[in-house]
Amino acid sequence: MYDKVMESKAFIEKSLKEQPKVGIILGSGLGDLVNVIEDKVYIDYKDIPNFPQSTVKGHAGRLVSGKIGGVPVLCMEGRFHFYEGYDMKEVTYPVFVFKMLGIEKMLVTNACGGINTDFEPGTLMIINDFINLMGTNPLMGHNDERFGPRFPDMSEPYSIELMNHAKLVADKLGIDYKEGVYAGFTGPYYETAAEIRMIGRHGADAVGMSTVPETIVANYLGIKVLGISCITNMATGIQEMKHSHDRVVEIAKIASVNMCKWVEALICEL
Ligand code: HPA
Repeated sequence: MYDKVMESKAFIEKSLKEQPKVGIILGSGLGDLVNVIEDKVYIDYKDIPNFPQSTVKGHAGRLVSGKIGGVPVLCMEGRFHFYEGYDMKEVTYPVFVFKMLGIEKMLVTNACGGINTDFEPGTLMIINDFINLMGTNPLMGHNDERFGPRFPDMSEPYSIELMNHAKLVADKLGIDYKEGVYAGFTGPYYETAAEIRMIGRHGADAVGMSTVPETIVANYLGIKVLGISCITNMATGIQEMKHSHDRVVEIAKIASVNMCKWVEALICEL
């Protein structure tokens, strides 16, 4: 795998004007952030050697490099979900490439369901910890010490320094946010009411189908992570309405206005 990642890295590097500092992974309906990137260069996943390929129709499937407020970033437009049938190494492959490109900080966003009843659709939540309910994880199997240790620490999966920075910036801009624990299921079904009751009692504030694998690998590689969730709906059994993906995307698009302002400002000062 190491050689494959290095080959992907070498290919991407040829298109970059500058070494990226921040890696960004965008969640469903939150793609507008790409619009704030200046001086953009696109690299299609399909052209990158060894990179997983997008299967979902309508997903862009490309890297976007450029600058946000002078800070060089590399953004994934279209991520890989476990429920699509990718294995965990494929889901997290781009994070390995981020690391080899010299990226030190990663921002990950997602659309998810709210369990904490202080939340409502449209709430932005800083992720302060995760619960992995995917039944597996990307670090299983042979460990290559060139990437990271066999038994990585996971006591601060989301960087306290980056969280504090995000809070300061939100306060300055007058952007409302909450903070909480993100539980990751595999999906693709929206959870049952019993599953939501169970994880709510165990400390989950929000639930989704992504983010946990990428966070695990980033920590393993020594990349600091900031996670921001957009609560697009209340989780099963909490809201009366049935779930709809179109509604998830609609709410995410509305919330992404504030999300973009926030993220743009916080990356500028990284
Ligand atoms: N559950 C899981 N994933 C989600 C949800 C949810 O309620 N909403 C958006 N993504």
